[in-house]
Amino acid sequence: MNIENNELDVNFVRSQFPAFKDELCKDWVFLENAGGSYVPDTVVDRLTKFMISTKVQPYAEYPMSKIAGNEMDIATEYFSKMINAQKNEILIGGSTSINLYVLSNALRSFLKPGDEVIVTNQDHEANISPWRRLEESGIKIIEWKINKENAELEIDSLLNLLNKKTKIVAVTHCSNIVGSVNNIKKITKLAHANNTLVMADGVSYAPHGFPDVKDLDVDFYTFSLYKTYGPHLALLYGKEEILKTLPNQNHSFLNGNYPYTLNPGGPNHEELSSLIGIYDYVNKIYNHHFSDKDNKIQKKIAKINNLIAKHEEKLANPILKYISLNKNLKLIGKDKIVSKNRAPTISFTHKNKTSEEVSKILVANKIATRNDNFYAWRCLDYLGIDTDDGVVRLSLVHYNDQNDVNMVLEALDRVN
Ligand SMILES: Cc1ncc(COP(=O)(O)O)c(C=O)c1O
Repeated sequence: MNIENNELDVNFVRSQFPAFKDELCKDWVFLENAGGSYVPDTVVDRLTKFMISTKVQPYAEYPMSKIAGNEMDIATEYFSKMINAQKNEILIGGSTSINLYVLSNALRSFLKPGDEVIVTNQDHEANISPWRRLEESGIKIIEWKINKENAELEIDSLLNLLNKKTKIVAVTHCSNIVGSVNNIKKITKLAHANNTLVMADGVSYAPHGFPDVKDLDVDFYTFSLYKTYGPHLALLYGKEEILKTLPNQNHSFLNGNYPYTLNPGGPNHEELSSLIGIYDYVNKIYNHHFSDKDNKIQKKIAKINNLIAKHEEKLANPILKYISLNKNLKLIGKDKIVSKNRAPTISFTHKNKTSEEVSKILVANKIATRNDNFYAWRCLDYLGIDTDDGVVRLSLVHYNDQNDVNMVLEALDRVN
């Protein structure tokens, strides 16, 4: 079927995800997507097939092994294409936290005592701690703080921090608490004019549409594949001209063999191969909605991203409105999505109830959510929120539908 209009066919989307038919999951409104998403059957099928026929050490001559290695290579190649990178510019590792820990260690050798690295207090700790550890080598860590009133990272504040000693800016593309989409293109332009590298954390951005890393012009970009409809892995992108100069973090004889130099231990093989299922899913969504079959994958993704953005905006805005108008609730971040300025990741606290109490009421009403600091510990602490109790977070993606919105609004009525 081809519907060639501007609306995402959410019923078709949902039919691709076995969780929505599963006995345990099917009655729940799943709003913990920023924690980790469901996977389409294309991913499940690939994973199962790999485990049955090719669960052997890859890259040998016998067919099971040859196919295993081949599928792992294809998965990497497809993902590089999906974000507009070269195959040797991405690596698939165990998690974003691990990838950034390894990257920061590699970049350490480029820095000398007195050099400065900018981190934010809006980020998840995965893009803060690894950089803060560089203090051990005499590197000065400068914090780009959010505006306490609106929780936003403001470019003017960054301009006050950038100087000749600034070597790296580590910043999130989208906050997993505030939901704001930061203008990475602009940040990168300013940083590059100052000879500063940019590491952007796209973990909370990519589930709403894979990015074009060349367009963003970032030096490094990362996201977690288990939040983009895949298994528990994470992707790290780096510009080739930088990757090839980074000191080897892998076995010594692999020196020069970038990007494996930044991937000690390598990825989980079966999970890596199952990433082809995400590529297949993207193509299925495209073919269902558009008739032009010659489009390159990046072009397809750009078109799908627009459908997704429109759909997510339609779902999230009534929830944002409800929370922002409710006198007992305190919304964090913008109260409306306009032109992709915000992800449908909605965090709030209650004036008279703990976040745990609110979350329990929502769960009792079949809303799968939770309260936590979601490891954006510094962000919550700066905003004066109890970091143990945290916020309640309702995070939507493109497979959520109007019924989910109706159910969550009804459940929120019971919170008062
Ligand atoms: C914005 C953000 N960055 C980084 C991470 C860390 O990702 P991982 O679990 O792959 O280490 C998370 C995880 O929730 C996140 O939300």
